[in-house]
Amino acid sequence: MTTIGNDHFPTGFLWGVATAAFQIEGAWKEDGKGPRLWDIFSHKPGKIRDGSNADIACDHYHRWQSDLDLLQWLGVNAYRFSVSWPRVLPDGKGKPNQAGLDFYSRLVDGLLARGITPMVTLWHADHPQTLEARGGWANRDTIHAFAEYASLVFETFADRVKHWITLNEPNCFLYQGLGTGNIAPGISDWKICYQSIHNILVAHAAAVQCFRQSNQPGEIGITMSVDLWEPATLDPADIAAARYADIQNNWWLLDPLFLGHYSEAFYKNLGELAPRIESGDFELMSIPCDFLGVNYYWKNIVKAGSQNLGQAAKGEYTATGGSVYPNGLVEVLQNIYQRYGRQVIYITENGLYEQDTPPIDGLCDDPNRVQFLKDHTQALAEAIRQGIDLRGYFVWSLMDNFEWSEGYIPRLGLYYTDYTTFQRIPKRSALWYRDFLFRHSKP
Ligand code: BGC
Repeated sequence: MTTIGNDHFPTGFLWGVATAAFQIEGAWKEDGKGPRLWDIFSHKPGKIRDGSNADIACDHYHRWQSDLDLLQWLGVNAYRFSVSWPRVLPDGKGKPNQAGLDFYSRLVDGLLARGITPMVTLWHADHPQTLEARGGWANRDTIHAFAEYASLVFETFADRVKHWITLNEPNCFLYQGLGTGNIAPGISDWKICYQSIHNILVAHAAAVQCFRQSNQPGEIGITMSVDLWEPATLDPADIAAARYADIQNNWWLLDPLFLGHYSEAFYKNLGELAPRIESGDFELMSIPCDFLGVNYYWKNIVKAGSQNLGQAAKGEYTATGGSVYPNGLVEVLQNIYQRYGRQVIYITENGLYEQDTPPIDGLCDDPNRVQFLKDHTQALAEAIRQGIDLRGYFVWSLMDNFEWSEGYIPRLGLYYTDYTTFQRIPKRSALWYRDFLFRHSKP
């Protein structure tokens, strides 16, 4: 146990930052990488708010060494990143791309050499276009391809990587990609959406099974975005809408993993949109994981008739998105415990959307983000005090990056990315986190 002020954190707690391959790497067709669904989507006119794409993004593919130095400077003991599936298996399955594997191998070695623990996500909304063209997650063949990809990654890296995340936020990415259709692949078909969600959860389980069969030491889990969904008023219609959104966004995907079945009432309610379930799916889906990764950003305020997945009421100090509510972090963890009992939890993402003002004299002033981090690290300590088995916290994100269909407009990094020079300039929040971690590492 280490202590900062009155706050106590377990020994070995992972303090980190998180990124995702598509959002930072760039090099979209270098060294044998195949196209991904987002490469295609972001090149279509009108799909990205500022008309940009992530062909270069933060150019991390070429600047990874100095980015690892930033991590070291911050003093984090962990880094969560994702492997881009089409970089290591350009066609989704079959022949691996050695150059892609080598890139991640150097990254992992670079982290370990700096004393930083890697936590690796296998799918952060980043799969090969070849698979997308054959139906993507709606096609059950993608489940087998994912298991093949997962096995390749485990074989190559599990000697050095001990913390694995199968999927990042299948709830957000599939509801928006296949339901509302505002992000890649840009399909709006709720039947396809619910079938794809079902299949991706089976794929998660298949990857966990591959990991167990590999007999490698380490832990594996899944990351879901778990937010609060609250009614705007006490009007029964608002209350019912909030309850629906809560089940749809949070529990619909987690119930089969922890309880071995979908929420029955919700399933019935879906009618024709309900997914086709094959025999054995639930047994596989509920294969035990070692932890649950939770991405927590905000509280969503739900008004009957106006709830739109992924969008929420504007908060006090957010530029985009929902209502910032630090204590909600404790509440969502308590909600998870109430529904599924005690679980090991990592906060795999937490961060603030802003449109930070450009840096002056080498420093970007982001007082709201500093306050955000202070409040949320206190919420972590409170959750631990309340008995939650919390093992780590990852700030989203190391540096400003490509924010999906919002392009480069929102900035969520601890470092300000200058997209012309690709310089990473510290924000005051980076200094705050560094100081916090320094105080934390003192005996
Ligand atoms: C995603 C990240 C994203 C972040 C901020 C999460 O939904 O995992 O990729 O950038 O939220 O929106």
